[in-house]
Amino acid sequence: MKRAFLLLFLALSALAQGVEGLWARACAQCHGEKAQGVRPYPGLQGVAPLFATPEGRRYLVLVVLYGKKGEAGLMPGFAQLKDEELAALLNHLMALLKAKGEAFKPEDVKKERGQNLAPDRIQRP
Ligand code: HEC
Repeated sequence: MKRAFLLLFLALSALAQGVEGLWARACAQCHGEKAQGVRPYPGLQGVAPLFATPEGRRYLVLVVLYGKKGEAGLMPGFAQLKDEELAALLNHLMALLKAKGEAFKPEDVKKERGQNLAPDRIQRP
């Protein structure tokens, strides 16, 4: 019985942490709690307009799935996370940046999987 309560408690606290906990673990070490950037890694303010165009939205999904390599350094891909998690992270970023655009759905992530793109192939539209 005690064990059941403990498991319930753990499950609930994982849910409560939700996307903020995921952002803190996966993204904040480089981009910061509020996407402001942590030197030498870039802030993400500049991607705000991309949430509103189809090419921009596809790019954002490709970046989180396959990573990105460029002048600012190397970001690893996060294909190991679930579609729901990556969609939630992009929606969290959209909220942090107060960007306009439709919410990402897990299907938006799913349809870009399986392309095995290298981080230096991911280019801003
Ligand atoms: C190890 C550090 C690191 C981590 C962790 C990381 N990134 Fe990045 N990210 C980078 C770097 C470096 C770039 C820029 C690469 C370049 O020069 O083009 C970048 C670029 C981006 C871009 C594109 C920026 C632009 O201006 O086009 C987005 C969006 C992004 N990251 C989102 C995320 C999200 C969401 C997470 C968490 C799932 C994350 N990053 C985790 C280092 C990181």
